[in-house]
Amino acid sequence: MPRSTADLGRLAEEVRELKARRNAVILSHLYQRPEIQDIADYVGDSLGLSQNAARTQAEVIVFCGVHFMAESAAILCPDRIVLLPEEDAGCPMADMVTAEDLRRRKAELGDVTVVCYINSSAEVKAESDICCTSANAVKVVGRIPPDRRILFVPDRHLGHYVARRTGRELILWEGYCPTHDRLTAGEVLAAKRAHPGAVVMVHPECRPEVIDLADVVASTSGMLRHARESEARDFIVGTETGILYQLQKQCPGKRFYPASQKMVCPNMKATTLDKVKRALETLEPRITVPPDVRARALASLERMLQIT
Ligand code: 13P
Ligand code: SF4
Repeated sequence: MPRSTADLGRLAEEVRELKARRNAVILSHLYQRPEIQDIADYVGDSLGLSQNAARTQAEVIVFCGVHFMAESAAILCPDRIVLLPEEDAGCPMADMVTAEDLRRRKAELGDVTVVCYINSSAEVKAESDICCTSANAVKVVGRIPPDRRILFVPDRHLGHYVARRTGRELILWEGYCPTHDRLTAGEVLAAKRAHPGAVVMVHPECRPEVIDLADVVASTSGMLRHARESEARDFIVGTETGILYQLQKQCPGKRFYPASQKMVCPNMKATTLDKVKRALETLEPRITVPPDVRARALASLERMLQIT
């Protein structure tokens, strides 16, 4: 049952007290519910969240996001307690590549450099040479020597975008994000007609024909930065609608229009204040990674963090 504003306020206070008692930090992705973004110590994209997890001094990290994000924090900080308040919050795109499938493909291709999007399991990261996020994928691929063949997993749309931006030929995996793949060029054109002159910002997980219509292609934090710094007042936003709360909060005088109301990731909405409170009380559900997998996945993540 949805909570009233007064209930949410009381719960938020309880969460803040528990957080202090546990010496915890709350990290939230920009697609989370507004009340979760409001209690977080840091709200951002996958890159910013990983960077924050890597340098936190807190004993407990409460990760308000999806499984691969909490797992990345557990890889980067094995001595901290990493909690994912909703254990079943996964990422369907991350599930589109398994370590076994990847090993098979690598065996078929022979000598190849594997770049894996951070939206992947620890096991897949362990099978990869370097990770990337939507914020640094172009830079990461750009650093790979030009004579190397590159296999990019799992997002074919991000891979396609990076290939175009870098001029590199990438071997793509057939994964995609169901939430971003849902946005059509027709919907973007309709939004442009409804809001003439608005800046179109889209996430690189969108289809190529949608990216072709955009003025700005950026990670979620990249969109936020662009909206803050731009002179423009009106923006059409082609990503999960949770970001609209933070855009409006940080840019009160500007107007933001979702490119499609259908862009909702159910996994990102599964975390509630009740679950955050329970996680802090019980220190469960806890995310851990087996040491052998962790060591190899860490190498992929650290190679990425060194160049961004
Ligand atoms: P960002 O890293 O841009 O926030 O994207 C994460 C994600 O899951 C997009 O769907
Ligand atoms: Fe995964 Fe897409 Fe949800 Fe991001 S929005 S967590 S890529 S399903």
